[in-house]
Amino acid sequence: MGTSPVAFVIGAGNVIGQAVGSTLKDEGYQVALGSRTGANFGDGFLSVKIDVLEPATVAAAFDEVTRHLGPPAVVVFNREWCSSMIPRRHALDGFSFKAVSFEHIPTEDDPLSLPREAFEKHLALGTAVFDAARHALAGFRKLDPGGAGSPRSFIVTGNIAPFWVPKAKYLTIQLQKVIAAYLTELFAGSYRTEGVQWVFHKIDESIYCDADDVVRFYFALQVTAQGGPPESELSGEAHAIAYKRILENSSQGEWDVWFVADGSPYTGDKPGLP
Ligand SMILES: NC(=O)c1ccc[n+]([C@@H]2O[C@H](COP(=O)([O-])OP(=O)(O)OC[C@H]3O[C@@H](n4cnc5c(N)ncnc54)[C@H](OP(=O)(O)O)[C@@H]3O)[C@@H](O)[C@H]2O)c1
Repeated sequence: MGTSPVAFVIGAGNVIGQAVGSTLKDEGYQVALGSRTGANFGDGFLSVKIDVLEPATVAAAFDEVTRHLGPPAVVVFNREWCSSMIPRRHALDGFSFKAVSFEHIPTEDDPLSLPREAFEKHLALGTAVFDAARHALAGFRKLDPGGAGSPRSFIVTGNIAPFWVPKAKYLTIQLQKVIAAYLTELFAGSYRTEGVQWVFHKIDESIYCDADDVVRFYFALQVTAQGGPPESELSGEAHAIAYKRILENSSQGEWDVWFVADGSPYTGDKPGLP
């Protein structure tokens, strides 16, 4: 077990998860990469088996990371359930096949045409954030509030679906991400005074005091310059740049973090309609 802070990326895909993991490793984190297969991601990473839909494996994976590296100071939840495969650009060798972000419902304007089993599956992906966050928070509480890897951050890889009005066509992906976004906003508000550090400044003859929150929750989403879904612009490197910036925040800031293809912040209006 080293002294460097620990990051655990859950859902270590070759588009986003591995790009974020590599950047965090370069930033000095000990990095665990989680997937259902527990695939070996090579030297310098702890490869961990986890299925976010199986709570016992989530508990076991956090135990394994903690036993080998220490409690994670950063947890990235990078998982959703997808149905079909389309070509996508990724960091290592150009194009690969990548699952599209949502399962189509049988009849586009008829949300109740979605079989109950599929409804429950997509719901479970949203609520899986609850389990992962619970284990992450337990780990954050084991860490010295002012120690390495402070602040503690839980970052959900999101998309624009929760910011759209409900639409039958997007039922499956909205279910997952609306729940994930709701939980992220709730946790960001609920734990922002957790382990708070008071920072005193003297300016002229007056003393000022700032609260430096140490437990933070984010829902991070890549969008186009116009604020739409990134489609073929989706980039692991953009996520890595944006997540690095999130970890450098001086305070919680907004719980929803919007960024564009080069990883820089999205500065346009936040659209509410697809
Ligand atoms: N901004 C946008 O509009 C946008 C667009 C597309 C995607 N996204 C986001 O990107 C994220 C996916 O990123 P990605 O491209 O890196 O995905 P990816 O390439 O599909 O990788 C997903 C990884 O998760 C693992 N995995 C699959 N099911 C799992 C489960 N039940 N439990 C644990 N691990 C599991 C897979 O490995 P195994 O098969 O070995 O488990 C794989 O390594 C999603 O959160 C999605 O919302 C956002």
